[in-house]
Amino acid sequence: MTTPAGYTYGHTSLAPSPVTLADLDALKQSVLWSSADEAAIRRAGEILIPQTEAILDVWYGFVGAHPHLVATFAGEDGTPDLEYLGAVRRRFAQWIDDLCNRPYDEDWLAYQEEIGRRHHPRGKNETDRVESTSTHIPLRDLIGFISPITLTIRPFLQNGASDADDVGEMLDAWLKAVTLTVSLWARPYNEELW
Ligand code: HEM
Repeated sequence: MTTPAGYTYGHTSLAPSPVTLADLDALKQSVLWSSADEAAIRRAGEILIPQTEAILDVWYGFVGAHPHLVATFAGEDGTPDLEYLGAVRRRFAQWIDDLCNRPYDEDWLAYQEEIGRRHHPRGKNETDRVESTSTHIPLRDLIGFISPITLTIRPFLQNGASDADDVGEMLDAWLKAVTLTVSLWARPYNEELW
């Protein structure tokens, strides 16, 4: 399988997450995750993955339309670094697949910790070796982004849904899964209180 540059899911160099499976189980309860959501997110994946490029066009369009968001993709001169945007976009595509299809186990937890680090000053810019004027993604935007990442998904689910599908159920599962991951990505921002 070809994986995008900088994608290190399951890589031996990746440290295990300090988050235990018991912590994850409790967090799943906090977001109301159930076995029905597991089935719904798999089905959502079947519908969404073939539309990945169109979904990313919407999300990148949203980021590009907001100077404070696109500023995080700046190179050393402060303007958007197209190579950086492109490299992250390929891992973003892979993330949609992972979110819908991977088991939420230790390997998954380790990569969530890594993605959190990549939004945080500790790891941002490292993967793509970017000299960026941006040191991190503000935690407020990381959390705030759950809203557009979820609300923009509805039409894509509607596009591919059959009569037997419940779009509301799949959107609920998507929201819970995204909230779960962003919660895990927030850990490096405040290790003590996480
Ligand atoms: C729900 C919230 C968010 C999701 C689901 C998300 C998703 C992702 C994913 C999947 C990656 C690539 C991870 C990898 O390397 O495998 C990534 C990296 C990145 N994201 Fe986000 N993101 C979110 C919020 C944001 C926000 C709000 C911004 C901008 C303000 C942002 C800017 C970036 C940047 C600049 C990178 C590259 C970091 C680096 O490695 O240097 N993200 N994001």
